[in-house]
Amino acid sequence: MTGSAIRLEAKGLSKAFSGIQVLHDVSFEAVGGRILGIVGENGSGKSTLIKIASGVLQPDTGQVLIGDRPLPGGSRSVQHARRLGLMTAYQDTSLVAELSVADNIALSFNAIGQPRPADLDEILARYELPFGPSDTVAALGPGARQLLEVARAMCHRPRVLMLDEPTAALDMRFAAHLEELIRQSRDEGVAIVYVSHRLEEVRRLADRLTVIRDGVIQGTYDSQDWNVDDIVELMVGAPTELEFPARTGPTGSKNRLEVRELTGSIFSRYTIANRRFVQLIGVALVLTLLVTELGALNRIFDTVPLTSEQWGLCLLAAVVFLAFCELGKLVERRAGGGEPQPVPAPEVA
Ligand SMILES: Nc1ncnc2c1ncn2[C@@H]1O[C@H](COP(=O)(O)OP(=O)(O)O)[C@@H](O)[C@H]1O
Ligand SMILES: [Mg+2]
Repeated sequence: MTGSAIRLEAKGLSKAFSGIQVLHDVSFEAVGGRILGIVGENGSGKSTLIKIASGVLQPDTGQVLIGDRPLPGGSRSVQHARRLGLMTAYQDTSLVAELSVADNIALSFNAIGQPRPADLDEILARYELPFGPSDTVAALGPGARQLLEVARAMCHRPRVLMLDEPTAALDMRFAAHLEELIRQSRDEGVAIVYVSHRLEEVRRLADRLTVIRDGVIQGTYDSQDWNVDDIVELMVGAPTELEFPARTGPTGSKNRLEVRELTGSIFSRYTIANRRFVQLIGVALVLTLLVTELGALNRIFDTVPLTSEQWGLCLLAAVVFLAFCELGKLVERRAGGGEPQPVPAPEVA
């Protein structure tokens, strides 16, 4: 990095929407040839910050400097930021669905009074995108649109590139490809601001990391100085065990799931009972059998020794009871019961 590396500075930015304070005195700095990661939970103010730094939103207080030049307020702020070399790929992409890929890119050049690059097709080919310049944006899936949003920003060869959750809609393959493109830009000296809530991704990419919570910066760390647990704690404001308590199997009860009187189109009234319920039916049947058949209970307890008929009846009752015990276990297994299984630790995205 040389002394002339581009620098984006946000100083003391505050912003409220309808009286609700969303950003409190936020400052950060991005430098050419380095990637600054900004992480925070949903609703922590990341996109608002990016929009202010891009000129889309005006801060209530504070200032944005691009290469030491202040970003003026007002409706021309976005164009001004672009002319100073700052481009942004927004979380909610700003593409025109009815236009082609090439026309969308041409439009973003027109917006700052520049013609569409003559070698646009070659520029796009370098990014190895999974769509062509003449494809209509409406026909692209969400992942492809997100890639286009980033590629469009990169086509301008910006000095500062801000990416707001660029991989949110991307599968692993496209996300890896995008990471490669971002590294290339960094190596070319671009100052990159990379907003994400995927910490492993940020760990791979960012040289420095800024954590924001409820619109307040919690700290900025060099990449070797942080681990995921600490960052999650800063993001959520509580130890990770509180946010992600260890999961334990249910105790004390055999029932993992009970669904009663479930109704639907292919069945009318259906009950998935648990093991004890089935066993109880067995006991009830056995008792009914003993009581109704020859007043057997009285005879069994009054007459010793038992007749062969009474022995037969007892045997039959025992067989019925055991059969229902086995049936109960089968029902439980089908309902997903059994011994508690260890649950893997939650993965931090
Ligand atoms: N235009 C707006 N009007 C009112 N509230 C907004 C607006 N934009 C964002 N917010 C609110 O500001 C907070 C921060 O939002 P945002 O910057 O999008 O967070 P993040 O990108 O970290 O998820 C949220 O509570 C959100 O509802
Ligand atoms: Mg956001």
